[in-house]
Amino acid sequence: MASFSFRVIQTCSHTHARAGIFPTPHGSVLTPTFMPVGTLGTVKGVAPDQLAGTGAQMILGNTYHLHLQPGEEIVQHCGGLHRFMNWPGPILTDSGGFQVFSLSSLRQITDDGVTFRSPRNGDLIHFTPEKSIQIQNALGADVIMAFDECPPYPASYDEVKNAVNRTDQWLKRCIDAHQRSDQALFGIVQGGVYPELRRLSAQQITEYDLPGYAIGGVSVGEPSELIHDIVKTVAPYLPLDKPRYLMGVGTYREMALAISAGVDLFDCVIPTRLARHGAVLVRGERWNLKNRVFQRDERPLDSTCPCYTCQNFSRAYLSHLFRSRELLGYTLLSIHNLTELMRFSLGLRQAIITGNFAEKLASILSEN
Ligand code: GUN
Ligand code: ZN
Repeated sequence: MASFSFRVIQTCSHTHARAGIFPTPHGSVLTPTFMPVGTLGTVKGVAPDQLAGTGAQMILGNTYHLHLQPGEEIVQHCGGLHRFMNWPGPILTDSGGFQVFSLSSLRQITDDGVTFRSPRNGDLIHFTPEKSIQIQNALGADVIMAFDECPPYPASYDEVKNAVNRTDQWLKRCIDAHQRSDQALFGIVQGGVYPELRRLSAQQITEYDLPGYAIGGVSVGEPSELIHDIVKTVAPYLPLDKPRYLMGVGTYREMALAISAGVDLFDCVIPTRLARHGAVLVRGERWNLKNRVFQRDERPLDSTCPCYTCQNFSRAYLSHLFRSRELLGYTLLSIHNLTELMRFSLGLRQAIITGNFAEKLASILSEN
């Protein structure tokens, strides 16, 4: 029987920010933190040793993708996701709810679940809350997510209300289907941009005593100012002694604001996706390596960055790799961008612990 007892070690006296420790069977996670996305059992282009070197603690996998390829049965046969991908640290898997809605065609949603066509081979696939939990039990991540309905943006009040109620019904079925006490099941709050529905969903989801709670249904195309309103509406309903996870958010400003409202966990594809497009995150700015100014620049991307890339390679070399579409370029840029976001979240954690969070937040908001 694993213990997932989250411990808040310091609370900010001016905001709701907190620094915590979340123990899992594969190690403790110091929060607040950013979780790199490893959809198919790999953070694209980055080997596990390199990933650990970025400061990454917990990483994400996706039920939807891993079910389609290679299939959970193979992952389980190979000892579970940690062993299969050789990542010794904590892993969280998303339930597939969001991905089914955003990635697959011909989907049909009923109270029972979602039917969709596999983009791989056209097979008709049926996902239910039970099925998502069975797959996640087989994959074996430390944290697994409830199967939810994430409506698109914009969606009408009635559509979102239906999704909220369905997400509540589905959570009950996820809890009943969940078989492994060494995996923490997190519930997900929906409710779109409607404060009343956010409150309703938060009340419904927190009726269940779970080891953690997530805020879903954000970053789906709504204006980014609304994300903070949503977080501020939901956070007061979430128990203080459980971790809170804001799904799909990973920009400086939105993370800093959410941390100030008491959010502990984040994930986003941005650092690795940007890297594949030649974009680098340098202390709050985004640079594109295609820019000619970098071609003869022998400095590292960021002279204050401890990452493998900045310690060993010049902007000129990285620019050359990127222009030549060399695979190493993607790897080195991903390592830098991930390190940058890990440093950002760790810096905010340190500020909470030393009592400087409010000042640091003000400076981030003025720059971003
Ligand atoms: N990832 C980003 N947003 C969501 C969401 O609302 N639900 C799930 N399951 N995953 C997400
Ligand atoms: Zn770097």
